[in-house]
Amino acid sequence: MALIPLSLFLGGSVTAIPVVTGIAEGVSHQKKQNEEAANESRMIKFNILISCDSKDELAEEVDNGIAVLRHDKVWIVPREDRDGKPFPVPPIPNMQPPLHAFAGFYIQYPDDDRVPPERGLVSTISDDPPMLNWIYVDKSTYELRYGNRTASIEHIVGEWDWTEDEMRVMLEGWEGFVAVDESSAMSEEEWEQTPWGKEGLRWAIYYDRDDNGLKGRRGKRNVFEIVLHRRLQSKEDQLKQLEEAERKMQVKSRGDLKTQFTAPAAERERASRK
Ligand SMILES: *[C@@H]1O[C@H](CO)[C@@H](O)[C@H](O)[C@H]1NC(C)=O
Ligand SMILES: *[C@@H]1O[C@H](CO)[C@@H](O)[C@H](O)[C@H]1NC(C)=O
Repeated sequence: MALIPLSLFLGGSVTAIPVVTGIAEGVSHQKKQNEEAANESRMIKFNILISCDSKDELAEEVDNGIAVLRHDKVWIVPREDRDGKPFPVPPIPNMQPPLHAFAGFYIQYPDDDRVPPERGLVSTISDDPPMLNWIYVDKSTYELRYGNRTASIEHIVGEWDWTEDEMRVMLEGWEGFVAVDESSAMSEEEWEQTPWGKEGLRWAIYYDRDDNGLKGRRGKRNVFEIVLHRRLQSKEDQLKQLEEAERKMQVKSRGDLKTQFTAPAAERERASRK
């Protein structure tokens, strides 16, 4: 089966993502950027599976995990396989809204002030309405977060990449990711008062930018090195999703909404009445 055309995947929004950059840059650079931006392999959606080599007992909680998005942060929860597909196992029953696994791809971050432009990473944050956000690293805490362009632009938004074998995720040319136990610096009671503690979320993904185990940033929290594996969506699933998206996506290309896809109001209304 042929790869999914980029324009299809984005519901015809290609023009909404600026590919043309400053005139100061050379033509060959521009050409490379355009090719990169149009590279369908970069647009194949993937989930992120976590592994952790540490022998520490606690590390078992993150080994065999999957990345999920919640409370503006990227968390690790255990995963289970259903029909060969990975699904997050919710730490507590009946989470509302349900846990949303990272499901994303690479695309150039639209910012004229970043020269050369940086390859960003987006993920859906909900399926209905279908919405995409940027995955970025908070510049002061180094935690992974998600948000729209306004929320992300002053932080570390790239350059996201894959390893040479395309199997794992990299940022700024290396795999400096760690899992941080957000519960480990507070009492159980304090923990249960936090929005994530209420939902049993403990392990957040951070980027150890200075390669020192988050020295000066981790406090008393437990930190483990982890690896972010790309689990590509099957061609079948990509197609199914495309058809669904085509059916209900309407791209708003105004200003900050450039990276957000929302369902037409009428459709949303119909869905909520169901
Ligand atoms: C697109 O990405 C694939 C996989 O890395 C690579 O083999 C191919 O050369 C790229 N194509 C372009 C036009 O950059
Ligand atoms: C972008 O996200 C911020 C919060 O991070 C929010 O206040 C703002 O309304 C969002 N902008 C749009 C256009 O959705």
